[in-house]
Amino acid sequence: MKQRTLVVVTAGLSQPSSTRLLADRLSAAAVDAAATLGVRLDVRILELRELAHDVTNHMLTGFPPAALRDALDAVAGADALIAVTPIFNASYSGLFKSFFDVVDKDALADKPVLLAATGGTARHSLALEHAVRPMFAYLRAVSVPTSVFAASEDWGGDEADGQLRGRIERAAGELAREVERREAATVTDPFALTTSFENLLAGR
Ligand SMILES: Cc1cc2nc3c(=O)[nH]c(=O)nc-3n(C[C@H](O)[C@H](O)[C@H](O)COP(=O)(O)O)c2cc1C
Repeated sequence: MKQRTLVVVTAGLSQPSSTRLLADRLSAAAVDAAATLGVRLDVRILELRELAHDVTNHMLTGFPPAALRDALDAVAGADALIAVTPIFNASYSGLFKSFFDVVDKDALADKPVLLAATGGTARHSLALEHAVRPMFAYLRAVSVPTSVFAASEDWGGDEADGQLRGRIERAAGELAREVERREAATVTDPFALTTSFENLLAGR
């Protein structure tokens, strides 16, 4: 079985968080879909509320504190990403945007990403398409065609839950197929020595 890594970025602020709940359901569906294709996905969840102060410090100083550095490395090294934001004022939340503002501009290039959001009203579901998807297009990520929006009414009742489950499974299947057909992600260290110290000292 192939082994790949899935990083789940969730930007909910409440506790408990419906954004986290959606992130968990998406990652479970992605793990199942990948397993049917012979891929074991190792999942790491990044709760952005725990990194909110670090993100601000990084923006103010240009240096990421250790926990944020570790999270940014995890994103850069992931084979796939699930990114889930609450919708605030008809767009992604400020914390979600700020986190991706401090992700290296090349870190998401050619990386499969599943986009998802929660909101109070289904009328704002297209925020995923007019706000979130363009940001990931700018970052050159490969966003899967199905994005998943869960409004408050999607969590109540069997019929609503069934429809949400269908969208989750379709999006997770698309992400799993992208992961399965790719090589494992590689990260190059920009500070790695490309020659020996002897050569450097000799000016070679
Ligand atoms: C400041 C603010 C602005 C919001 N704006 C919207 C909005 O424009 N559209 C929408 O559908 N929901 C909006 N909401 C509702 C949140 O998207 C919704 O409560 C979200 O699912 C909360 O996620 P959480 O439970 O993970 O914290 C807003 C909530 C807040 C606090």
